[in-house]
Amino acid sequence: ITAFFAPKLLAGQKVLVTAGPTFEALDPIRGITNHSSGKMGFAIARAAREAGAEVTLVAGPVHLPTPRGVTRVDVLSAQDMLEATTRAAQSASIFVATAAVADWRPAAQSDQKIKKDGSGKTPVLDFVENADILLTVAKSERAQSKKLFCVGFAAESENLAEHAKAKRERKGIPLLVGNIGPLTFGQDDNAMLLVDAKGVRELPRAPKLTLARELMAEIAARLPDWRV
Ligand code: CTP
Ligand code: CA
Repeated sequence: ITAFFAPKLLAGQKVLVTAGPTFEALDPIRGITNHSSGKMGFAIARAAREAGAEVTLVAGPVHLPTPRGVTRVDVLSAQDMLEATTRAAQSASIFVATAAVADWRPAAQSDQKIKKDGSGKTPVLDFVENADILLTVAKSERAQSKKLFCVGFAAESENLAEHAKAKRERKGIPLLVGNIGPLTFGQDDNAMLLVDAKGVRELPRAPKLTLARELMAEIAARLPDWRV
């Protein structure tokens, strides 16, 4: 009963979430992507909405239902995701970057399907680096003036705590969440390491929706101190 009448944790907040993989086209039929399921980001969007926030979810190509009450923007490439995200970030108060953004895209996209020429020769792919969406948003005037609280996610294959601490500092963000591996992509359970200016804290293995709710509470608890 108390919980029902209590004000919601994120009432009045505008939460922006990126989720899923990106797809970097090679030609009209082919492209490069990764195995991100989008489940963690979708769980976060749902948990933020349940906590009373207005939520925008910028989603790469995944087949997941849109959480109730959430505004979803579907994108394919990292460049599309950057555009949709920076636009929504102009009015957001919390940004949670869970997307597994492709670090590189093919340097050239062929207008037509790349064909075999019968000689057995294989194509050589050249790449360019994609913009870092989280870093771009974190460096924006809105984030720098503490109107936008930015949260990053990091999937590491080794030395999670060390890499997560370094990544948080490199991105200049108040909170970074480390996924405790080895393989959490596609699974319904996860364990997370929360890294902030004060140190490291572990959220033990639990369903992604439970962790998403805990993360929303952790973010809400940090906002007052961070904003002063
Ligand atoms: N990220 C992003 N845009 C990119 C790359 C990463 O917004 N082009 C975000 C991710 O959504 C995540 C965070 O940055 O929240 C960390 O992503 P990660 O891939 O772990 O780190 P990188 O900075 O790309 O470094 P590396 O992959 O080399 O570890
Ligand atoms: Ca990366």
